[in-house]
Amino acid sequence: MTTPHNGKLFIETVGCQMNMLDSELVVGALRKQGYSLTDDVREADTVLFNTCSVREHAEHKIYSALGRLKFSKQARPNQVIGVLGCMAQKDQELVFQRAPHVDLVVGTGQLAEVPKLIDSARERRERSLAVSLDRKEGGRAAVSDSFQSYDPLREPEMRPTPHQAFVRIVIGCDKFCTYCVVPMTRGPEQSRPPRDIRHEVQVLADQGVKEVTLLGQTVNSYKHTQDGRLFRLSDLVEQIHEVDGILRLKFVTNFPKDMTDDLLQAVRDLPKCAQYLHVPAQSGCNEMLKRMKRGYTVEDYREMMGRIRSTLPNAAISSDFIVGFCGETEEAHQKSLDLIRECRFKNSFIFKYSPRPGTKAFELYADDVPEETKKHRNNEMLAVQNQISAEDNARFIGSDVEVLVEGPSRNELKRGDTTSSTGPVQLTGRTTCDRIVVFDGNPRLAGTLAQIQVDDCTPTTLIGQIVTREVQHGSSTLLPILV
Ligand code: 5AD
Ligand code: SF4
Repeated sequence: MTTPHNGKLFIETVGCQMNMLDSELVVGALRKQGYSLTDDVREADTVLFNTCSVREHAEHKIYSALGRLKFSKQARPNQVIGVLGCMAQKDQELVFQRAPHVDLVVGTGQLAEVPKLIDSARERRERSLAVSLDRKEGGRAAVSDSFQSYDPLREPEMRPTPHQAFVRIVIGCDKFCTYCVVPMTRGPEQSRPPRDIRHEVQVLADQGVKEVTLLGQTVNSYKHTQDGRLFRLSDLVEQIHEVDGILRLKFVTNFPKDMTDDLLQAVRDLPKCAQYLHVPAQSGCNEMLKRMKRGYTVEDYREMMGRIRSTLPNAAISSDFIVGFCGETEEAHQKSLDLIRECRFKNSFIFKYSPRPGTKAFELYADDVPEETKKHRNNEMLAVQNQISAEDNARFIGSDVEVLVEGPSRNELKRGDTTSSTGPVQLTGRTTCDRIVVFDGNPRLAGTLAQIQVDDCTPTTLIGQIVTREVQHGSSTLLPILV
């Protein structure tokens, strides 16, 4: 049993969507105990950092934030400071050595323990370390068991918007790309039972969620046998598609080698599926791909793109690239630019290689591309991608797109209170192909589908105005809308 509490909780989350979901679940559990959220760290008696280890920079940010809290803790000895997530699993005791005022270090597989550990830190001033087994510390089953799936409670306030929710379907990763810490920080790949996932989506739909994003580091590797039947991601998507109230369904992140035809056909045939696939290529050079141990060649990636384009001609594809990986020559870099030009990604997330202790690349290869070169390649790649994004967005000018309205835009939120506003404000939403659209409208439209006429664009955003609104109940007639 954990103690009822009326304290204030500050939580900072860095990293991927998986971390955002973990924070939602931790906050859900703590709210249930009576905690309330604050965005002012100075008034919090519990301060949590949900951390990322994918690049060194993300870790530095957390250690600096922890450093700043040393004095606040001296002034408030009752304060409990916790480090959660990937960096906790990776650094373990080292977190206490680098930041002795930290009370708890809790890995990605132990997050259900957080409420109990906060209590014992406060009551007994006991420090605690709760992490899963390292991948070499036991057999596969034992290591998997030590990474608990943690998906019990939901906290709408922590979601990107009240109408959008993440649902974890695959925990961990078994690909072991040589640059990546995720197989260590999130443990072995495990697919959750379809029954549990479907139930979770149903609960979310009952709470008013309209868009569900299924999460996995390699989401399309999903495989689970239930009642003697094998469920692939395509089967799961088909099941979730039946849940009433859900208007849109996405899944990230895809692994190129696992992009099978049955999945592409499901996306084609099920109208709630977003026409959008995030399939990181990482490099356009075979030698680099081999060193990264990605398990495919540029030719394989190209073949996959061909299948996507022929099955889903209107789908948008996005990618991740690493620039300046060990041994990357100028020629190799140019091959990555060529792949971007050839595939015309909707957008690419570009990262400068960051050597990570514990990975194969760290052990085997020198980080031999100078920082200046990494920066230069990063900028060059961004420029190539931006030009493509701008050209592709411009093709939408003059046409209508269907948008799932998310709510007031970031500009609008910066300007202040939007809930009491009576007139139209700047809203944002996304097309089925994941393009961001801004337009003026009533904030009450959040969570509905709207038709937007596109008038203008930037490389990242379509700009338009509402023309019609779909009636939510009853017929699907399109009516002119007055905003
Ligand atoms: N350095 C730079 N980028 C990395 N990524 C993963 N590990 C590293 C690293 N060590 C990138 C990959 C991955 C994305 C989430 O982060 O591109 O797809
Ligand atoms: Fe990391 Fe590769 Fe797994 Fe993605 S597929 S999480 S890059 S090891």
